[in-house]
Amino acid sequence: MSGPLRAGILGDPVAHSRSPLIHGHWLSRHQIDGTYERLHVPADGFADYVRQLVDAGYVGANVTVPHKQAAHDLADSLDPLAERLGAVNTLVFREGLIHGANTDGAGFVASLEQQAPGWSADRPVLMLGAGGAARAILGALADCGVREIRIANRTPGKVDALTPVAAGTPAVLAEVAWADREGACADVGLLVNTTSLGMQGAPGLDMSLTGLDGACVVADIVYAPLETPLLAAARDRGLPVVDGLGMLLHQAVPGFEAWFGVRPQVTQGLRDVVVCGHGRTRKIVCFLTMG
Ligand code: ATR
Repeated sequence: MSGPLRAGILGDPVAHSRSPLIHGHWLSRHQIDGTYERLHVPADGFADYVRQLVDAGYVGANVTVPHKQAAHDLADSLDPLAERLGAVNTLVFREGLIHGANTDGAGFVASLEQQAPGWSADRPVLMLGAGGAARAILGALADCGVREIRIANRTPGKVDALTPVAAGTPAVLAEVAWADREGACADVGLLVNTTSLGMQGAPGLDMSLTGLDGACVVADIVYAPLETPLLAAARDRGLPVVDGLGMLLHQAVPGFEAWFGVRPQVTQGLRDVVVCGHGRTRKIVCFLTMG
């Protein structure tokens, strides 16, 4: 099929998605004849819609809420992590077949390595939250060789459902009561917030960081605001911090490479574009309007 290579993001809603900004930046940077579109698809039409994209010659798509599980169920083949997670965020169409991958967790780890290169998988991790994002991050950290992952979640009893995600890895999961999260900090090398606490319009995360040692990395998956109250507190203590924008940008890399044939870089220029669609000088102003 000739013409531009076409990809997009499937979601409902999808208007808020920043993925078109990310892929649009890379398409232009690499002068690729391609497009990346917002594709608004309600849950009940998902499978038919994806098959129409395949027939129309699209090269693939990202998948966001509420379709990640449906995308997993629809795929003809899956990456091992997507299979363990039961969720897919990246579809690649080749020769009429649909391949599913989950790049969210790998995006988190790539962001960690870029923003906190001193991070070590040898120390325990404390994860706050046990939802979809936590599953993906847990799977990737387990694949990296982290051996002890403590999970604190507001609603007790959700950690059992995460156990299959670490199956076949050295990781051991331990549930920590939400009220005991500060006490579980003592020897951790990474604290990661996967809840929505700290997001613009949501309450902040109520947690003292005094129990963390000076080498502990503090990461947040929330990216609006870019510096959450958690990250501000960590920075005040002189701890290395990893913001949520890095995960959003890095999770997009494998899809772009598979669809358009170039492995793109996550640069400060890309961060500036995604934060507000302008250069660095307007960044601070634009943070105030994100969300
Ligand atoms: P996502 O796909 O972004 O992970 P999710 O699957 O809905 O979204 O998960 C949201 C996570 O944020 C959950 O761990 C949720 O805790 P519960 O399992 O108790 O619902 C957590 N969360 C949301 N609001 C919270 C709050 N006010 N206090 C503590 N945790 C909260």
